[in-house]
Amino acid sequence: MLKGRHLIDPMDLTVEELESVFELADKIIENPGEYTEVCKGKLLSTCFYEPSTRTRLSFEAAMLRLGGQVLGFSSAENSSAAKGESVRDTMMTIASYADICAMRHPKEGAPKVAALNSTIPVINGGDGGHQHPTQTLADLLTIRALRGKLTDFTIGICGDLKFGRTVHSLIKALSRYENIKFVLISPEELKIPDYIREEILIKKGMGFQEIERLEDVMSELDILYMTRVQKERFFNEADYVRLKDSYILDKDKMSMAKQDMAVLHPLPRVNEISVEIDSDPRAAYFKQAKYGMFVRMALIMKLLGVEKC
Ligand code: CP
Repeated sequence: MLKGRHLIDPMDLTVEELESVFELADKIIENPGEYTEVCKGKLLSTCFYEPSTRTRLSFEAAMLRLGGQVLGFSSAENSSAAKGESVRDTMMTIASYADICAMRHPKEGAPKVAALNSTIPVINGGDGGHQHPTQTLADLLTIRALRGKLTDFTIGICGDLKFGRTVHSLIKALSRYENIKFVLISPEELKIPDYIREEILIKKGMGFQEIERLEDVMSELDILYMTRVQKERFFNEADYVRLKDSYILDKDKMSMAKQDMAVLHPLPRVNEISVEIDSDPRAAYFKQAKYGMFVRMALIMKLLGVEKC
């Protein structure tokens, strides 16, 4: 039963609960017209202290498509955070206006603080370089749709693995499925944090390797998950400039890949996937963004405990 729960970390949902969300998303995709009023009278608040296109707008589109309404703010400057209000006080206020809240914050743990002070479900829409569980829902729904299952594949995860919250959440979530092998591709400075390597990959006995060159493993991958080197996470501009173009996926590299390899990316992209790849049938990242809206529709319904009449 997901009604009334928060989603802060991907491990907040069991594999069975995840599957129930995906099954509902499948039904919504198949018959969207049957869900246009299920959230009538419900309000979603989007509290975004950090920029977003996909997460905020897909949450808002999701609620509107379910017949609910939305209110919120899209930057800290447009809220009383600019006057020094705490996340706790903001959340205690929002909880008396809305039925459910999606929050993004640059500080790790802020949505957790909100959840601890909330009487309505709080969904983490990304907290600093920590976690991004609903991006993981979109990623898993995409992989499940493309491959028919969430087991038995080799996934290359490439780019900023240190600050990449989508990467941390995806590895955590996938660690519960059978026969997943990870190839972690990054410069030395952007390697996966120790807590993911030790607490998840090693402790759970996952197959994984850490390498620097994408070319060395292209032919082995069933899925390639590209990520952006995130300017906003660097303290030093010179480090960002040195690392930002570490990986660029282009036609030459794609020619080394399996014919059915899928390319995923949480987006936004900067230079790491050449635009020429967008027309390659293996490019799945815009489809992934669309699945993100459908899976958020399913999640909102589950957390609010609403059902199709
Ligand atoms: N994938 C993702 O979180 O995108 P936005 O930053 O645009 O929300």
